[in-house]
Amino acid sequence: MRAVVFTGAGGNEVIEVVERPDPVPTGDDLLIAVRYAGLNPADLAQREGRYPAPPGSPPDVPGIEVSGSVIARGPTALRFAVGSRVFGIVGGGGFADRVLVHELHVTDVPERLDELAAAAVPEVFVTAHDAVMMQARLRPGELLVVNGANGGVGTAAVQIASVAGARVLATVRSEALRDDVARLGATVIGPEELVERAVAEGGADVILELVGAPNLGPDLRALAVRGRIVIVGIGAGTEAPLDLRKLMGRRAQIMGTTLRARPLEEKAIAVQAFAREVVPHLAAGRIAPLVDRVFPASDVAAAFDRLQSPGKLGKVLLDFGATSRS
Ligand SMILES: NC(=O)c1ccc[n+]([C@@H]2O[C@H](COP(=O)([O-])OP(=O)(O)OC[C@H]3O[C@@H](n4cnc5c(N)ncnc54)[C@H](OP(=O)(O)O)[C@@H]3O)[C@@H](O)[C@H]2O)c1
Repeated sequence: MRAVVFTGAGGNEVIEVVERPDPVPTGDDLLIAVRYAGLNPADLAQREGRYPAPPGSPPDVPGIEVSGSVIARGPTALRFAVGSRVFGIVGGGGFADRVLVHELHVTDVPERLDELAAAAVPEVFVTAHDAVMMQARLRPGELLVVNGANGGVGTAAVQIASVAGARVLATVRSEALRDDVARLGATVIGPEELVERAVAEGGADVILELVGAPNLGPDLRALAVRGRIVIVGIGAGTEAPLDLRKLMGRRAQIMGTTLRARPLEEKAIAVQAFAREVVPHLAAGRIAPLVDRVFPASDVAAAFDRLQSPGKLGKVLLDFGATSRS
């Protein structure tokens, strides 16, 4: 197989593209032939040595999601036939044209999605659905705020909440991208307008925080009584003062979540909930993944540079080229 590896911790100088023997599926694992792989900020953190792969995942091959066709199965993997198109999440090893994944961590790709679109789905839609619908329990008619709405998780969350019948207020700092995010079903504002706009609408019932610590103060001021803040991204910082009086007065909840390090069963629950509640909307075309840019796997350093730069709309993908299916 062809794989992207990190030879150590640092910048793009630690990235290499190498040939390795194909992995062999055992137990409940599937071997997937991959054309496109999605980049995530977690891969960047891993490259910098801040986010090692969890035990059981390849330590030096990044990539936390997978999309492609089943080409081999472990002896007890019975849920998908060889040839099935599947997508889902992995603890690591996703930046390769052959990827092992547990069969409970993938689901069927709907026919409507081609290989490119399917690759832009799993990590961000599973994360957004799990955080907003499963954990924060957003209800129809409630107001969801998405902070950092133009990236992968943000564009997924706006669409999931919109088809669920919620009202969505999205903050996007790049003015050039605001119309694009509005077309997904949100009212789009600049981050500095959040408190005023949310309060004018009765307060936010749920805030999906994708930016991090500097937003915590405004988030609390923007919150409705019984509001829930769910922290998913901390790229702009991890520590912030917290006004406990406001927290109590609003009878508010603040929760944090990660997907990658969960035990096998908990990841399976998140993926299967996504399969039940999000995939039918993807199949019907009511929601769709957004692809910002695609880079050849050989140009993975440029893909990382794009991932880090502001102003993306949706996902950055790697193209491993047409791969043989057997
Ligand atoms: N907890 C989990 O399980 C989990 C899973 C997936 C992702 N995440 C995290 O969730 C966050 C979003 O992921 P993603 O895939 O959507 O990333 P992404 O595509 O890179 O999007 C990042 C978003 O955050 C905004 N942003 C970043 N830094 C900012 C800053 N300093 N001030 C204001 N806005 C800023 C970006 O706006 P600009 O375009 O203007 O920079 C963009 O809208 C990341 O931090 C990621 O690590 C967590």
